[in-house]
Amino acid sequence: MGCREIKLRSFDKQRDTAMVEDLEKKCEVGPRERPFIYMDTMGDPMCRIRNSPEYKMLVAELENELVGVIRGSIKIVTCSSLEDKAKVGYVLGLRVSPLHRRKGIGLSLVKRLEEWFDANCVDYAYMATEKDNEASLKLFMDNLGFVKFRSPTILVNPVSHHVLHISSSVKITRVKVEQSENLYRRFMSRVEFFPHDIDRVLQNRLSLGTWVAYPQGESWDGFDPNRCIPSSWAMLSVWNSGDLFKLRVANVPLACIVCTKIMSLIARAVPFLKLPDLPDVFSAFGFYFIYGVHGEGPQTGVLLHSLCRFVHNLATNCKDCKVIVVEVGGLDGLRHHIPHWEFISCTEDFWCIKPLRNRNNTQFNWSETPPPRALFVDPREV
Ligand SMILES: CC(C)(COP(=O)(O)OP(=O)(O)OC[C@H]1O[C@@H](n2cnc3c(N)ncnc32)[C@H](O)[C@@H]1OP(=O)(O)O)[C@@H](O)C(=O)NCCC(=O)NCCS
Repeated sequence: MGCREIKLRSFDKQRDTAMVEDLEKKCEVGPRERPFIYMDTMGDPMCRIRNSPEYKMLVAELENELVGVIRGSIKIVTCSSLEDKAKVGYVLGLRVSPLHRRKGIGLSLVKRLEEWFDANCVDYAYMATEKDNEASLKLFMDNLGFVKFRSPTILVNPVSHHVLHISSSVKITRVKVEQSENLYRRFMSRVEFFPHDIDRVLQNRLSLGTWVAYPQGESWDGFDPNRCIPSSWAMLSVWNSGDLFKLRVANVPLACIVCTKIMSLIARAVPFLKLPDLPDVFSAFGFYFIYGVHGEGPQTGVLLHSLCRFVHNLATNCKDCKVIVVEVGGLDGLRHHIPHWEFISCTEDFWCIKPLRNRNNTQFNWSETPPPRALFVDPREV
């Protein structure tokens, strides 16, 4: 069967929604033998790109059967500490039906999306995958000219039923949206991948707020540049991904499900045993995504840890929020202060990049630059 029979076209909500969601369920990401997580987009397969300034979703059809899908989004970000800007295109949600793989469908979908990037003057295309997703890496690196770029760390912490204690030496304050935009622009605008439309991110209904922590007894003036800032401080914002899509775990042995449920029942019934309170992730669940992690001063670590506990306590009020996810630069020392469970976290997410055009004929090539300490992970791209 040749590629000529494959038809690529834009996603049509009415015609394609059910088929895309069905395809999503059938598509494991990574090795087939182990449990995998898939997304339940709750009737809106475009939900992962809808909040970006520009976006596109394409489907591949083979004799009226929907066999592949891809999403892409475009925005302007900071690409170097000199605050240089670049227009970037993000490739995400690529899925090809297991029955139709190795027929060039994935390759055709990415190439078509690159044409859309080109038409919109995108400087760099980038994508993220797991380091052991051989199919994806071979497709992007061997066939499409992407190169390995950054390796951020994804930290995952379960939400337990207990409210966590927060030290009385730490003061936590919610920051108004306008103030948080000032904070971001003042302290994070030079961070790689910082989105230039941060105001839109912060104003989005999924953004639950921005909080800062500083030592009790010191004062917070919204960082009025004319006033003293606390000796140490930390900040973060929270995005409710569970309002957009749910996650489901598939391919899990039944014994594992039963064991987890029993452990959880015992932990709740007999709390003094101090068994780990395992989250029930076998039915659809949501998560909070923490973004914009930043801090300054000698006590940053302690303050950030308290902020994460605060977010955990916030999540206990959200019925289907079972985990809290944070993604930070692989070299970012702050990650040591973010509570997480090692075995459900991913220490090396794999980001690849490809320059698409020569930017004003300069010699600068972002894809060749070494990784900086910090990295901004946009909650809209999770
Ligand atoms: C990754 C995926 C989209 C590839 O789709 P596909 O239509 O099978 O890919 P193509 O047929 O276009 O492959 C093009 C080239 O990529 C490489 N490739 C694709 N799948 C591969 C695999 N399983 N093993 C090794 N190389 C592979 C090959 O070089 C292939 O060329 P070849 O067949 O001539 O050797 C598909 O495997 C999939 O849906 N996987 C599950 C979801 C996923 O991992 N998505 C990517 C997340 S970023």
